Amino acid sequence: MKRIEAHIVDFLDTVVLIGSGSTRVLGRLLHGLNTERVFIVADRAVAGKALEIRRSVEEAGLETVYMEVEAGEAFKSLDSIVGLWRWMIENSVSRSDFLVAIGGGTLSDAAGFAAATILRGIRWCNVPTTLLGMADACVGGKTGIDFDGKNLVGAFHHPTIVLCDTSFLETLPERIYRMGFSEIVKHGLLAGHAFYKWLRDHSHELRRRVMDAVEEAIARSLRFKLGVVQRDYREVSGYRMILNLGHTVAHAIEHASGYTIPHGEAVSMGLVVELEASRMLLGFEEKRVAETRRLLEDLGLPSTPPREIDAAEALKAIMLDKKRRGGMIVLPLLEALGRPRLMRMPVEDAYRILLDAWRRVMAC
Ligand SMILES: NC(=O)c1ccc[n+]([C@@H]2O[C@H](COP(=O)([O-])OP(=O)(O)OC[C@H]3O[C@@H](n4cnc5c(N)ncnc54)[C@H](O)[C@@H]3O)[C@@H](O)[C@H]2O)c1
Repeated sequence: MKRIEAHIVDFLDTVVLIGSGSTRVLGRLLHGLNTERVFIVADRAVAGKALEIRRSVEEAGLETVYMEVEAGEAFKSLDSIVGLWRWMIENSVSRSDFLVAIGGGTLSDAAGFAAATILRGIRWCNVPTTLLGMADACVGGKTGIDFDGKNLVGAFHHPTIVLCDTSFLETLPERIYRMGFSEIVKHGLLAGHAFYKWLRDHSHELRRRVMDAVEEAIARSLRFKLGVVQRDYREVSGYRMILNLGHTVAHAIEHASGYTIPHGEAVSMGLVVELEASRMLLGFEEKRVAETRRLLEDLGLPSTPPREIDAAEALKAIMLDKKRRGGMIVLPLLEALGRPRLMRMPVEDAYRILLDAWRRVMAC
C-alpha cells in the first residue's frame, strides 16, 4: 500500500481596503496581479460610480467588459448565474481574468459564485456598496444562490481584493443603511468588551453616518470576522458557526413574516432573544441584555419581535426543518461578552429554550 499526503492551499491571500475613494486604486492593484481583462458586474442602483471605477481601471491600461444588473434577493438565482456564465463565455473569458462585483450582498453572493464556477474558478474582487456588504458579507468567501431554500447552493471562494469605498454609503436608503448594524453588533458581542464598548460610545455618530466612525466600525467588524474565518474557513471544525449568533431566531422571524421583515432587522430581534437564552442557560449578564437592546435601538433597529408573530408557530416551522436534517442543532450562545459557546442539543430542547426566551423578551 502506498500513501501520499499533500497540503493543497486553496485560500488566496486577500487585501481589504476601507475608506472613501479606495476604489481608485483598483486598476493599480489589478495590474500587479497578472491580469489583462476585467469583467465588471454592477448593481444598477450604483451605476454612476461603477462607471467611474470602470474608467479608472481602463486608465490603468486594462481592458474591461461591463454589465449592469438588477440586484436584490431575486438576483441570487440560477438564471442569474447562467446569465453571468454566458456573458463571460461570449466575451472569451480566460483563467487570468478578474471578475469585479460592485453591489450589495445579493450581487456579490451571486457574482462570487459565478467567479467560483466559471472555468473552475477565476479570481474576483468585491466592491461592497451597502453597510452590510462592507461590514460582513464582503469577506469570508461564502458565495451562492437561493435554490430550494436560502443559500443552499454555493461555494467557498474568497475574493482576492476587497474595496470598501464608503462613499457608496451616501446614497444608501436609511432603512438599508441601518440594517448593516445588526451584524456589526453581533461581531461586537462575539469579539468582546473593547469592540462592544466602542460601539456603545459611538452609536450616535454611526447612526448619523459620521464616516470616520463608520470606517472604524467596518474595520473592527472585518478584522474580527477574518480572524474567525482563518480558523475555520470551510466551517469544518464548526468554530465558524459562532457567526450564526442571533440567526436561528432571525430565520424564524423572517420566515413567519413571509420575508416582509428584512434580514438585518430580523437579526437584531434574534440577537436579543438569543442573548436572553444565553442568560437563562449560561448566565450571560442580565444588564448586558438590556444594554444591547438599547444599543440596537440607538442604531435604529427593532429589538423586539412583532406581536403579530406567533413565537411558537414561527419557531416550530424552523425547527421542523432542522429536525429533518438529523434532529440535533448547534446553537451559538454567549457565556459573556467575547465568550461564545456552541451548544449542541436536540431540536426539541432548542425549541423550548428559544420559545421561553422569546416570551420573556416580549414581557419586558
Ligand atoms: N456571503 C456572506 O458572508 C453574507 C453575509 C451576510 C449576508 N449575505 C447576503 O447578503 C444579502 C443581503 O445583502 P444587502 O443587505 O447588501 O442587500 P442588497 O444587495 O439586496 O442591497 C439592498 C438594496 O440596496 C440597493 N443598493 C445597494 N447599494 C446601494 C447604494 N450604495 N446606494 C443605493 N442603493 C443601493 C440594492 O440595489 C438593493 O435594492 C443576502 O442575500 C444575504 O444572504 C451574505
